[in-house]
Amino acid sequence: MLELKEQVAIVTGGARGIGRGISLTLAQQEASVVIADLLEEEADSTVTEIKRSGGFAIFIKTDITSLESVESMVATAKDHFGPIDILVNNAGWDRIIPFAETTPEFWNKIIDINFKGMLNCIYSVMDDMILKNRGKIINISSDAARVGSMGEAIYAGAKGAVISFSKSLARELARNQINVNVICPGPSSTPMVDEMKAESEFAEKILSSMDRIIPLKRMGLPEDIANAVVFLASKEADFITGQVLSVSGGLTMV
Ligand SMILES: NC(=O)c1ccc[n+]([C@@H]2O[C@H](COP(=O)([O-])OP(=O)(O)OC[C@H]3O[C@@H](n4cnc5c(N)ncnc54)[C@H](O)[C@@H]3O)[C@@H](O)[C@H]2O)c1
Repeated sequence: MLELKEQVAIVTGGARGIGRGISLTLAQQEASVVIADLLEEEADSTVTEIKRSGGFAIFIKTDITSLESVESMVATAKDHFGPIDILVNNAGWDRIIPFAETTPEFWNKIIDINFKGMLNCIYSVMDDMILKNRGKIINISSDAARVGSMGEAIYAGAKGAVISFSKSLARELARNQINVNVICPGPSSTPMVDEMKAESEFAEKILSSMDRIIPLKRMGLPEDIANAVVFLASKEADFITGQVLSVSGGLTMV
């Protein structure tokens, strides 16, 4: 068992989808989980489920695109559970739109949530991790960043920045025994994917072909990604840093 007893974990976007799976799985391994999200109802339901199973969790309403909001969330989290051991930068947002049809407002929204949101969160927890000479940072990117993805050029660019940044930060923080790694989910069944399919025929066509195209013949599930997060958060992964792990049923093998 990859035990995370007495570890405090922040999961951004932990209210629903992959983040919910990560929160539930970290709590099963006995971590205390802080869900930092905008969605109150969904976050409350995830917290309730964790508590019902005997785990520890709180929801702190947070907009990761605001440094002020993130700093306030980290302060509240520390008051409640103590210093942060694990940061999972999972919150993200995307829509499938050909680049030519996108707008600068759309670019900014994608970059603010998927890239700058991660910067705000790491910036707000890293000093404490440096002081303790220990910490695990796990950033959720996407296979779109590794191999490209039609209709996701801006998103793939922002998620590619997550990978490049993570490798550089892993080098900077290695002397402080802080591990920085990246997980790249492939297409996974989540509310975000349901929304994309509902909003666009183009997205529906691409995403509906995935069960056939993915070598392991199904889309990812939140728990598939969550299990990889738990491993990277555990002491068993102390010697792994600056790495990128695809969890995609074999869709990408590069
Ligand atoms: N689902 C997929 O197919 C897939 C594939 C590759 C990568 N990913 C990545 O996995 C992560 C989770 O995606 P998902 O599919 O579960 O999405 P989702 O929309 O179902 O969940 C994302 C969560 O992030 C939260 N969030 C969004 N903006 C926020 C903000 N500004 N501040 C705080 N919280 C915010 C949302 O409220 C939501 O709870 C994202 O980073 C996404 O890019 C998903």
